Parts: sequence; structure tokens; C-alpha cells
Amino acid sequence: MKKYFSPKNIRNYLIKRKIKNNNRFNIEWKDQNFNRIALVNLLLKHYENPDYLEIGCNENKLFDSVYIDNKIGVDPIRGGNIRLTSDEFFKNNKKKFDLIFIDGLHEYQQVRKDFINSYNSLKPNGYILLHDMHPRYIYEEYTPKINNTWTGDCWKLAYELSLQKHKMQIIMIDFGIGIFKNLGKKFELNDDNFKKIKKLDFNFFYENYKLFDTISLSEFKKTIKDKYN
Ligand SMILES: C[S@@+](CC[C@H](N)C(=O)[O-])C[C@H]1O[C@@H](n2cnc3c(N)ncnc32)[C@H](O)[C@@H]1O
Repeated sequence: MKKYFSPKNIRNYLIKRKIKNNNRFNIEWKDQNFNRIALVNLLLKHYENPDYLEIGCNENKLFDSVYIDNKIGVDPIRGGNIRLTSDEFFKNNKKKFDLIFIDGLHEYQQVRKDFINSYNSLKPNGYILLHDMHPRYIYEEYTPKINNTWTGDCWKLAYELSLQKHKMQIIMIDFGIGIFKNLGKKFELNDDNFKKIKKLDFNFFYENYKLFDTISLSEFKKTIKDKYN
């Protein structure tokens, strides 16, 4: 009872009342057994002796399930094997990786920073994967967090990349997994775009859904051999 009426819960309740909105994607992620763990292991199979980096590890659900020797997990609080924030880690990092999974702080500005730093630490033909790229309703997306399931506003990075013709697909599993391959193209993001995109909310994602390059698991499985090998 005490917990139910905590200042945080009251604050979240009041925000939810204010932003009430009916736009909703009817997606049940639990219906798909193929999740981020399966995807990471599938992609790592294509490399010889791969190097893996995970940003944000928490209970190591993914990190412990990545069945390779060379793996680094960065988290300031728990999980992984390096106790730093992603910014602190990248500041001194010289290592390059075949696959980087970004799943730290789910706020656009931080995800964008993690993405840029990851890109600079990616081997040719390496992948960046990003968790939680597909919010289903406004409370799940609202940032800072007000809801139990929380994707944050990471989707804004997919939109920003699309404006500059950089390809990021969103695989329709496990709260949406963004996938980006290093094809060696010169890469720069524009800070003016960032300022405009930061102000957008879930309704933009919902109403402009066609702009996002979403791909179903079955389509992804069909194309993975020609597209990503
Ligand atoms: C959603 S959990 C990660 C789940 C994990 N990747 C998995 O798949 O099981 C997010 C984690 O990000 C961590 N985190 C928050 N801010 C971070 C930052 N600036 N740098 C790295 N990790 C961060 C949190 O401590 C938390 O453990």
C-alpha cells in the first residue's frame, strides 16, 4: 500500500493523466520466442573469433547467453565485466568490435552518443544492434520513464538516421531491435536535426510509421543470407 502511493507513483499517475492518448500498436512481443539473445548469437556465428560489446547489462540475461570468449559488458551498476558508464568506457577504448549491442540508458541523447561511439569502435562489416526501438503506446515511450515497460525514445535515432539516408532497420522482435551494418560509409549526424527530433513524441512515431524500415522476423530470416553476409 505504502509503495503504491509513493511520490514517484503519484508523479507518474499525474503525468499519465495529462498525456492520455489512444494511439497504440497491438503487438505482443511475448508471442515471439526468437528474441535478442537468439539474434545476437545468430549474427556472431558469421564471424571467426568475434569481439562482442554490450552497453547496459543489468542481470546479464543477454550477456551470459552470448556464447563466445571475447566479450565486454559495460554497466555502471550491475552485470557485465566493466563497471563504468558507456561514456567513460568509450573515452579510453581502443578496441574494435564485430557486434555491439546498445541497451544502456534509453534516452535519445544518450543512445545517439552510444551509437556514434559504437560506430567509431566497429570493425568493417560489424553490426550495431539497439534494443527497444519500437514503443507500442505513449506511456511506454514517455521519457523519462513513467511506466513499467519502458522503451524510452530510442526510436528517434532510427528517424534521424533515415533523414541522412543511413540505413537502420527495426526487426520486429523483443521490443524492436534496430540493426545497422558498417558498410564503410562516411558517417556524420547533424546537430540541428537532433534538436528538432528531440522535441517529437510517440504520436510522431505512430503517425509517420511508414517512414520506419520495420522488418518481420520471417522476412529478416529470408534476407539475412544475401543482405548481411
Ligand atoms: C535494460 S537494462 C540492460 C539489459 C540487458 N542488455 C539484457 O538484454 O538483459 C539497462 C542497463 O543499462 C544500464 N545503464 C544505465 N545507464 C547506463 C550508461 N550510461 N552506460 C551504460 N549502462 C547504463 C543500467 O544500469 C541497466 O543495468
